[in-house]
Order: sequence, then structure tokens, then C-alpha cells
Amino acid sequence: MKVFISRRIPEDVVRLLQQENMEIAYNNSDRKLSREELVEACLEADLLFNVGSADLNASFMESCKHLKGIALTSVGYDHADLHAATRYGIPVSNTPDVLSKTTADTAFLLMLATSRKAFYWSRQIERGAWKDNGFLYELGIELNRKTLGVFGLGRIGLELAKMAKAAYGMTVIYHNRSRNAEAEELLDARYVSFDELLEESDVLSVHTNLTPETQYRFDAECFRKMKKNAIFINTSRGKVHHEKDLIRALQEGQLWGAGLDVTDPEPMLPENPLLQMPNVCVLPHIGSATLETRTAMATMAAKNLIAVYHGGKMPQVVNKNVYEK
Ligand code: DGY
Repeated sequence: MKVFISRRIPEDVVRLLQQENMEIAYNNSDRKLSREELVEACLEADLLFNVGSADLNASFMESCKHLKGIALTSVGYDHADLHAATRYGIPVSNTPDVLSKTTADTAFLLMLATSRKAFYWSRQIERGAWKDNGFLYELGIELNRKTLGVFGLGRIGLELAKMAKAAYGMTVIYHNRSRNAEAEELLDARYVSFDELLEESDVLSVHTNLTPETQYRFDAECFRKMKKNAIFINTSRGKVHHEKDLIRALQEGQLWGAGLDVTDPEPMLPENPLLQMPNVCVLPHIGSATLETRTAMATMAAKNLIAVYHGGKMPQVVNKNVYEK
């Protein structure tokens, strides 16, 4: 079987595949392939090691329906049409768990950076505008003993909640489809309704998959219900919040600040007003971007492909029903 690796990955992980005697075709560069290039390369392959967030929509699946497996290098799988993959019998895997702590670190970083307007102050220095601004100029707010609200308290949300509790004694509330017994036991986390989450959170952090139900879930009406001194954090997917509504809520003082690792669209346009706001910190979707975590994610993806190569099931398959056919 031949595997196509769509972008540069750690050498150790390439070796892992080589040790299995798999035939490898490799885009050994950081350049993102065009749709046409990706399809063309996949037509020559049996397995796809999909590095990054290339849009694997229904038409891609149709063009590449001969594939025996697709390994994603992300926990989110909204960029892959799983219905189409299942229809063609293609198992698709993701990379859960190994990135939870690192992505939670990114949310924590944004929470703290936003609360202290850190990116704004750094921009001031770069602009040569470091001056004595006075005692009360662009002050931050503290996180100590505040309430952290988590929308989607799964693996990543739990890691963030643990850090927030340990660092600042924050009270944890959450809203999920189902209760998280571990968080309730470990952190005294309190399950609340969606409206209570909006109304009670001092920091509201989003950790959910992008689905038709969560798309644009945080809109003008939600921001109006939040506290005026609340901080909104999103490290999941940019389409979970309505960006224009968020901009307006911040401009009108309905919210105190926002920290985003994900935007809509990505990349964010440089003229986006969010980038000029003192109380906003934006990162370019680097949630899992550490050497250790990216290596662990690539290793997990490789192991899923190796399982298919040996005639087995992908351990981290996301379209589980593909194996029921
Ligand atoms: C993930 O793993 O889903 C990250 O957001 C990268 O896309």
C-alpha cells in the first residue's frame, strides 16, 4: 500500500512508516497543496496522511473513493465530509487526547493575555509608543476567584478548568450535551443551562466541535446576555462565534474582551478591527503547535494508517459506522 503524506511531518514519524515497509509519497515541504494537487497525489495512493486542514469535502471523497483510509492530524474533523467518506467505505481518524493539554494551554494563555491586554501593550512597544500613560490608562482585570464558564467540557475544557482552578481558584461552571462527572468530582464544576453559562461567566471559553448545532452559536443575542466585564475565549473553530456580532459587542462595551485562536475566515484579514482593540488577543490557530504535541499527533495519525496497512481498524476512527457496513 502506498501512503501520501500531504505536508512536512517529523522525520521520526516518516521513519515509523518506513519501518513498516510502506511505500511513501511525500510532499516534504511546508507548502499547502492546492485541491487539484492533493487529488492528483491521492489518485496514486491508497492511504492519505492529511497534514493540516485541507478541505476534504464530498467532491474530494468522490474523486478519491478508492482510498483505504485517511488520517487527519487534528482532533477537529469538520473539514472532512464523514458522510461521504462512510458512503465510500473510507475510515477517517483524528488525533484526540494528545493535544488536550497544549490546546488548553493556548486557551489559558489567551485568557491571561486578554485580561492584561498583553498583545496591545506589546504592539505599543513595537510602534515606539512606550510612554508614561498615567495611573489608570488601559488597565487589565484580574482572574482571581472569578468564574470560568466552559462551553463543551470535554478533554480540552477539563484541562483548562484544572489550570484555572489551580492558578486562580476560579469557580468552574459548564454547559454540555451531557454531564461531566469527572469535572464535577475533581473541580466541583457545576452544570448550568446555556443561558446561565452566558449570564454567570467572567471568562467564557469555547471547546466544542463545529457542527450544524454549534455553528454561530455565539451571536449578538448571546453577547448581550453576558456580563459587561466578561472575557470570551475561543480556541475551537472560528465559526462557533459570529465574528461581526463579536466585533460589535466589543465596540459597544457589551463584553470586556476576547481571546481568539480561531477566526472566520482563516487567515484573519489584517484590516480586521479586532486586531486594533486593546482588549483583544488573536493568535493564528496555534492551539496544538508545540514540537512535542505535533510529534504526538503525527505519530497517532501514522499508527492509524499502519493499522489499515495491516488489515486492521483505525484505533481513532471518527466515522465508526464505516466498520459496520
Ligand atoms: C485541532 O486539532 O482540531 C486543531 O484545532 C487544529 O486544527
